[in-house]
Amino acid sequence: MDDFRRKIENIVRQVVTETLASGQPPDLRSSGDYSVRRMMLAANWKMNGSVDFVRNYAMDLTVVGHDVEVVLCPPAVLLPVLAQSLAVGQQVELGVQDLHYESDGAYTGEHSASMLRDAGAIYAIVGHSERRSMFGESDDVVRKKLMAAIVNDLRPILCVGESDEERASGSTFRVLRAQLTAALGELASPLPDPGNVVVAYEPLWAIGTGQTATAQQAQEAMSFIRDRIGEMFSWSFAQAVRILYGGSANPDNAFELASMEDVDGFLVGGAGLDPKKFMSMIDSVSHAAKEGVVRAG
Ligand code: PGA
Repeated sequence: MDDFRRKIENIVRQVVTETLASGQPPDLRSSGDYSVRRMMLAANWKMNGSVDFVRNYAMDLTVVGHDVEVVLCPPAVLLPVLAQSLAVGQQVELGVQDLHYESDGAYTGEHSASMLRDAGAIYAIVGHSERRSMFGESDDVVRKKLMAAIVNDLRPILCVGESDEERASGSTFRVLRAQLTAALGELASPLPDPGNVVVAYEPLWAIGTGQTATAQQAQEAMSFIRDRIGEMFSWSFAQAVRILYGGSANPDNAFELASMEDVDGFLVGGAGLDPKKFMSMIDSVSHAAKEGVVRAG
């Protein structure tokens, strides 16, 4: 009920804001392409793989004529071999797991957004919790990386999520709000195409633990994320941004999670390393989309 109430309040606030800004009320019935979000499944391979692994994976994977957008994010050094190994006609986009925010210079070991694009990346994961916790990435660094990705035509997949303790102490929404505000706060007019901005809700306690969020927990957090993006930008912008769930998502729980209104697909770690499991998840996501889940909010 609280969720419903918050949604209504948010719609009213957005209508008032957009009416005051443009002098006329937004047409909520026909938000054009914004009303349907294409489901997405992205694999974060983390620091796994080899040239042989890539070749075998590409041989076992079949993604042809699919309604789900499929993205593979291998270690950056394996991007070219993956691009070469994917058979002609495979509808797979490539992405990276990180980038540096500067365009060039003395940053030993780093890759700039334009280099990653040259190597074939279309997407870039930004602010993954492993980067935040193991490599000391602050909110400020995450914001700079997100901006560098957008400026260089890489589509960001921004990761946000709360820890176990934060959830237990009732701070989940506060943490999500702070991470979103910090990372997206500098986006300004003209805003990027919202179809090219992806947010991944990845509760830290679910990543690599086998302890998946329930469909209700995921929906509650992801609806909050969409509302917050709506508050920051506009209702129609928020409706077009895709929000993925990440954290022990697998073929057994994909359908139930993907059937939730604000779940537009997944960012997967472990299950993304096994082409059979990954393809099974593509099918589940596609099935959930076809079951007529209303994604217009
Ligand atoms: P997992 O990882 O699916 O192995 O839990 C998800 C992630 O880290 O993006």
